[in-house]
Amino acid sequence: MKREQFSSSLGFVLAAAGSAVGIGNLVAFPVMASKNGGAAFLIMYTFFVFFICLPVMLAEMSLGRHTRKNPLGAYTEIGQNRAWRTVGWMSVITPFMIGVFYLVITVWIFGYLGKSVMGQLNELAAAGSFGNFINSNELFVYMAIVIGLTFAILQGGVKQGIEKAARVLMPMLFVMLIALVIYVFTLDNAMLGVKFFLIPEFDKLTGKVLNGALAQAFFSLSLAMGILITYGSYIQKNNNIVHAGKMVAGLSVLVACCSGLLILPAVFSFNPDIQLSTLSESSISMIFTFLPKIFLAMQADIGYFGASFIAAFFFLLVFFAALTSLVSIIEVPVCSLMDQKGVSRRTALFSLGAAMIALAVICALSFGRVEVFSNLLSYGGINKSFFDVVYDIFYETILPLNGFLLCLFVIYRWKKHNLDAEISQGNSTFAGSLLQKYVNFSLGTFIPLILAVIFVNTVSTIFFGQNLLF
Ligand code: PHE
Repeated sequence: MKREQFSSSLGFVLAAAGSAVGIGNLVAFPVMASKNGGAAFLIMYTFFVFFICLPVMLAEMSLGRHTRKNPLGAYTEIGQNRAWRTVGWMSVITPFMIGVFYLVITVWIFGYLGKSVMGQLNELAAAGSFGNFINSNELFVYMAIVIGLTFAILQGGVKQGIEKAARVLMPMLFVMLIALVIYVFTLDNAMLGVKFFLIPEFDKLTGKVLNGALAQAFFSLSLAMGILITYGSYIQKNNNIVHAGKMVAGLSVLVACCSGLLILPAVFSFNPDIQLSTLSESSISMIFTFLPKIFLAMQADIGYFGASFIAAFFFLLVFFAALTSLVSIIEVPVCSLMDQKGVSRRTALFSLGAAMIALAVICALSFGRVEVFSNLLSYGGINKSFFDVVYDIFYETILPLNGFLLCLFVIYRWKKHNLDAEISQGNSTFAGSLLQKYVNFSLGTFIPLILAVIFVNTVSTIFFGQNLLF
């Protein structure tokens, strides 16, 4: 069977941007930036995106397009030994498991969307509402709908499913985001938030903050999850990988910036005297506890109906972003199963879907409902739920490890000249360019080094309660 392909470079860019733009850009980024130096954080983040993440991105896309395979297939074909095959397995299991917790968060967002549409804003803004919601039976109804939607998109395949969804959802997302930014700018005191976001405070950039910014950039571009290898395997040979990669990175930063201009003005118009240090670090509490309060407060101006409308509009925006990310991450194991076992898309979707639903249900029950899942393990001096364990192991720990191994694999196993040859197809100016030298050098030296340091420090911090660096 001929491998499916994106219809054009734009098709790939939208799909990959769909993957990149997610809860990370829309919520985690503004929260981090506001607490850690505003524009100074933004500058460092942008620097990391282009100087550290972009080379990794190009490497993943090239590896996929060259082998025309999923991560497991690509590592097996080029690696030619058990060790690299194991790394291939890690690059398929990691997105599967990250998919599980991302699915649960997407379900929460969808639930908040549903409740805002039904006019239950009062309830959403009430204390304790989030905790009640994530432990309610209603959650499973929302979960069934999100799973149904995700699988319907994936069943459509590359062109008719993934690309089509991205072509519809991404432009809508951009328009909605801009519309919301314009709206919050009209609110009282919005400019205080803009000022806060745009005035750089370089002294806030500690080692810890820089580490966080890099991790955020890495996660946000969907690196080391096998996604760009998989999507790369659907890119046409005459498309320009460098150009497409820069577009995806640029769009991701742009969306992150716009959401800073959305969230911070909203926060300041709600409370001009707010001390940002009192805001919680977590994007979860930002979306699900703090923002609903802001939406409810808007009713003084625009009435309950207007406030519910704005809330629904916002949650729909975040839901679109999360859905396209969820699709991309589940496509990795789906594509792997299809390639490696020769099964149909439908069979792959159903078998992986069943496993994923089982794990997502366990996650959903691990917030106090079922004791064994809620207090699964204890390490680093903290009791962890099943959800926490999945997050700590696959997102925090294995992601930088996968990134580190990917750099070594591409440069020292696949070899620089093969990488260069693949990127040069569709890009006649790459060979001999400064970019080529930079990509080759960085991927073989300091990028894997940085990722290795992050990996070691994360293991030590999370599992042994000892931060070696800060
Ligand atoms: N880029 C996504 C974000 O910013 C992260 C992600 C991508 C998560 C794909 C899961 C799957 O939220």
